[in-house]
Amino acid sequence: MEQNRMEIRYDGTPCYDILLEQDFGKLGERLVQLSVKNRKLCIVTDSNVGPLHLERLAQELIPCAAKVVTFTFPAGEARKNLKTVQMLYEFLIQENFDRNDVLVALGGGVVGDLTGYTAATYLRGIRFVQIPTTLLAMVDSSIGGKTGVDFKAYKNMVGAFYMPQFVYMNFTLLGTLPTREYCSGFGEILKHGLIRDAALYSWLVENRDLLLQRDRLAVAEMVYRSLLIKKDIVERDPKERGERALLNFGHTIGHAVEKLKEFRLLHGECVAIGMVAAVQISWRRGMLTETQTKEILSCIQSFQLPISASGLLVEDILLAVSRDKKKDADKIRFILLNGIGNAVIDTNVTEQEMAEACEFIL
Ligand code: GLY
Repeated sequence: MEQNRMEIRYDGTPCYDILLEQDFGKLGERLVQLSVKNRKLCIVTDSNVGPLHLERLAQELIPCAAKVVTFTFPAGEARKNLKTVQMLYEFLIQENFDRNDVLVALGGGVVGDLTGYTAATYLRGIRFVQIPTTLLAMVDSSIGGKTGVDFKAYKNMVGAFYMPQFVYMNFTLLGTLPTREYCSGFGEILKHGLIRDAALYSWLVENRDLLLQRDRLAVAEMVYRSLLIKKDIVERDPKERGERALLNFGHTIGHAVEKLKEFRLLHGECVAIGMVAAVQISWRRGMLTETQTKEILSCIQSFQLPISASGLLVEDILLAVSRDKKKDADKIRFILLNGIGNAVIDTNVTEQEMAEACEFIL
């Protein structure tokens, strides 16, 4: 099986490619396919990633286009909002970007989501390319076409489904990620195994030491296998009408924790805590055995992820959950596990069940 390219299809037809590489060697030839020789490229990045990777990327892009410009904004979830989008619009107007020019998102989830949303809306849509630099962005946020920004207290409240031209992963970039950031990615990867692929989950457990050491081959295989799960789900349900909600496993309570902790915990860490809560509910309902439950918790911990959050109140979590947008009419679509590798959508999780699960994670 070719493991350095994956095609994402939309409505059965090829939509975009994901390239899994150890360097930027193939980036130029992919850009040539977008006919950008006489076009402008704008690299969008943040203050963390820019100093590390911008110069190297610009070297690759300059020979491919008529002009390459850069827009850097301060790193952090607090800047993932319409103000930053507006600043980017202004920059693009000033640089005379038209509909044939291209945005290049270089960064983690915040950069990718914000750049994608700007691309979706500027001049009613211009092309964009994703170059994810974090493990979490590689396995989750750069794939599937969800773009958007936060609005007031609401995460990802304003957005659009908008597909990139291609996603280019250069695994070497993971070398500069701080350990906490790197391990945050395991939150989404374990999620993929737990919801759909027991074999991936077991493989992760078996290869944990290599993965924590960022062994290149092991990381490439992990990302590839994790992407297969996401690909399968988003191809069948690109706009989250049904099955795609499975990808929100751990996110219902995870998002509440993320918000209440004011983004001091990383996204993958909050997903890990949210998964622990969802696993608790699944166990209490008899959908997981005690042994499976304990094993999942110790697995999450062994990937250096938290299984609890201190300093929060159950009632605040419940309030935040009820305000979350992922509601179906008046019902919260909770994702539970009916065994490892088999997630189900449940709209009947009670407040009492959620409260008991929250007690466990606090
Ligand atoms: N991160 C969940 C999704 O892409 O649907």
